[in-house]
Amino acid sequence: MRFDIVTATATDYAAAIPALAQVLRACVMKGAAVGFIPPLDLEGAVAFWRGQADAVRAGEKQILLAISDAGRIVGTVTLALAPQVNGSHRAEIAKMLVHPDARRQGIAAALLKRAEELAREKGRRLLVLDTRQGDDAERLYARLGWQSCGIIPDYALNGDGSSHATHVMYRQLPPRPRDLRVAAAHPDDPDAIPLIDALSADLLARFDSDGRRGLAGWSDVADRSLFALARLDGVPVGCGAVRPFMGETGEIKRMYATPGSAGVGAALLSFLEEGARNLGYRQLVLETRWANDRAVAFYRRHGYRLTANYGHYAGRPESACLTKIL
Ligand SMILES: CC(C)(COP(=O)(O)OP(=O)(O)OC[C@H]1O[C@@H](n2cnc3c(N)ncnc32)[C@H](O)[C@@H]1OP(=O)(O)O)[C@@H](O)C(=O)NCCC(=O)NCCS
Repeated sequence: MRFDIVTATATDYAAAIPALAQVLRACVMKGAAVGFIPPLDLEGAVAFWRGQADAVRAGEKQILLAISDAGRIVGTVTLALAPQVNGSHRAEIAKMLVHPDARRQGIAAALLKRAEELAREKGRRLLVLDTRQGDDAERLYARLGWQSCGIIPDYALNGDGSSHATHVMYRQLPPRPRDLRVAAAHPDDPDAIPLIDALSADLLARFDSDGRRGLAGWSDVADRSLFALARLDGVPVGCGAVRPFMGETGEIKRMYATPGSAGVGAALLSFLEEGARNLGYRQLVLETRWANDRAVAFYRRHGYRLTANYGHYAGRPESACLTKIL
């Protein structure tokens, strides 16, 4: 069976209640420990889901639906966002249900994976749940990376006077890999201007010179110049440029990465070096200030060596000039 996983809107949810009631009732009648003792009739199951509607409308509970290619709701899971002020990073997985005639096709695994993605989107990084000890679900969660906290004995009643234990589990969602992209751009790109302004303001405040002339006359030599823009998860976070200096030597200009964006400077530098090679440069030079010790250390870490101060930096003791053979 093919199936889709969708996050129910409040309207979808209202329409889905009869089908969700069928799934809940079928699971309980098959012996699932999900808050009820069999027998559960359809009205009882409908009443349960109706009781969730306010929380769904408020966004406190997110309901995922597994819908078969025939348009039938065959599974569901609830992501309940912790309402506590100090729990805004946490959510609970509840009512993981797959209709007995749709099991063992990966529907629960797909629901859980989507619930994790949704949790991340909602800023939740810790998930918790409990499940009857020894159930199929326990194996499913363990397989999907859930950790065991322990067993609570005598947790819920079975209906015949006996009780069963529950297994409390949690999952810390691994940090989402960041999407860092560097691409060629024009320095007049609206995404670039605030970065160039921020760099200029920073340099002016620290070194009394904003370095703005680094991009002067861009269009005159655009064919031998390269401006690069870095975006992290789509947000512009850094820039840099290579300009012609002399013959096969290019000059690095306007390197900037917004504070706290680790890895951006290295990605920009590597993009610019590769671009410079493609433009026919064999060597790069650059100037920074000795007082900018983090920048000096950064370039040295990336293979740049000190060189005699060149051009109009000659005779300026505050300038540190570096070079790298490509
Ligand atoms: C627990 C439950 C949600 C699992 O649903 P499911 O859709 O069958 O789960 P999956 O298909 O993802 O995985 C179940 C098993 O089928 C296997 N499977 C998945 N796709 C398969 C396929 N295409 N072919 C054969 N086996 C498959 C999985 O490997 C897994 O194997 P395991 O039993 O060795 O762990 C379901 O049994 C259920 O609704 N139980 C009652 C309610 C309940 O207890 N919920 C948990 C509350 S905490």
